[in-house]
Amino acid sequence: MPNAYISGTGFYVPPRVVTNDDLIAMGVDTTSEWIVQRTGIEARRYADEGVGTSDLAVPAARDALERAGLTARDLDLIVFATLSPDMAFPGSGVLLQQKLGLCEGPEPKFVGALDVRNQCSGFLYGLHVATGLVKSGSARHVLVVGAETHSAAIDISTRGRTVSSLFGDGAGAVVVSATDEDRGVRGTWLGADGRYAEMLCQKVWDIRKRPFIPVDANGVGQVEASHMYAQMDGRTVFKHAVEKMCMALMQACWATSTDPKEVDLFFFHQANMRINQYVAKQLSLPDDKVVHNIQRYGNTTAATIPILLAEAEREGRLKRGMRVAMVAFGSGFTWGSAMVDW
Ligand code: ACO
Repeated sequence: MPNAYISGTGFYVPPRVVTNDDLIAMGVDTTSEWIVQRTGIEARRYADEGVGTSDLAVPAARDALERAGLTARDLDLIVFATLSPDMAFPGSGVLLQQKLGLCEGPEPKFVGALDVRNQCSGFLYGLHVATGLVKSGSARHVLVVGAETHSAAIDISTRGRTVSSLFGDGAGAVVVSATDEDRGVRGTWLGADGRYAEMLCQKVWDIRKRPFIPVDANGVGQVEASHMYAQMDGRTVFKHAVEKMCMALMQACWATSTDPKEVDLFFFHQANMRINQYVAKQLSLPDDKVVHNIQRYGNTTAATIPILLAEAEREGRLKRGMRVAMVAFGSGFTWGSAMVDW
């Protein structure tokens, strides 16, 4: 049975920087101090109108493929994790497949495209699927993408400030490849607790209703703000995030007989600096082993961990031979962890 390792990482964030002060200029009654104190976020990136989630994923995917020494035609599957797909259906995976040029030329490659709907845990759910397929011999190279365009679908106003001040746009990607070397993904662990599905959700429509979106007298769909934008019970999310991230990280350590001290770098989902500081404190992890970029990008949901990995590799911080742990928690509630020998 081959091992599955991460052969390439890539990321892309749109160029437009939106600082906390820019949010104030956009009409949000807040202060930079409030946001920084509670979340650690100083700025985030917003995509321009006309740019979709699959568009952000294209340069991230190309970056990861190039660093893996592969082309899109080497892929056996695309796994696309997002909560902000370009459209309700089809998923963004097929859009990315087409934009990578796989349907063109004399020998098109109609590689499968799977969309993952697990929000902030989406990348680790995708890594779990990719690793399983590579280890089983069903695939040699799987592209796992996490990408989000939150800026179009958050309530950038005082009414929506609790949620909108947290989120930003971006994309990260990895290629998971087969190897006979003794390295790679040692394990992935997933969890979910559907009792909390409505603690962080964006309803937009209710498929049980006829029609599924209320319409006005002219038959035009009308969505109330409480359904149009994500709603969150921030304190419940915070409490469960700390608990489940600690648990998932310990599970990864126990299952691989790893003392947390042996882990070289920790890649936590970037929801909130305070959540991550709590988790690190609970597990007595040294600050210099926990990688952050939430200050610059905010919470990019499924994209946070692959962006972190790609940046850490570019900075020379993440090196071959290191043991790294990843952990995420998010809407669902869902969570996941991974232990990887880089
Ligand atoms: N600026 C100023 N005031 C604000 C802002 C803002 N951006 N957002 C909320 N407030 C106000 C609220 O309106 C409220 O005012 P009120 O008391 O007059 O009603 C007050 O601050 C307190 O609101 P809370 O929501 O109780 O604030 P809290 O201290 O819990 O902080 C926060 C909110 C930062 C969202 C916190 O709950 C949190 O970090 N939760 C974790 C959730 C999270 O990280 N979610 C990310 C997505 S899920 C994931 O990725 C894991």
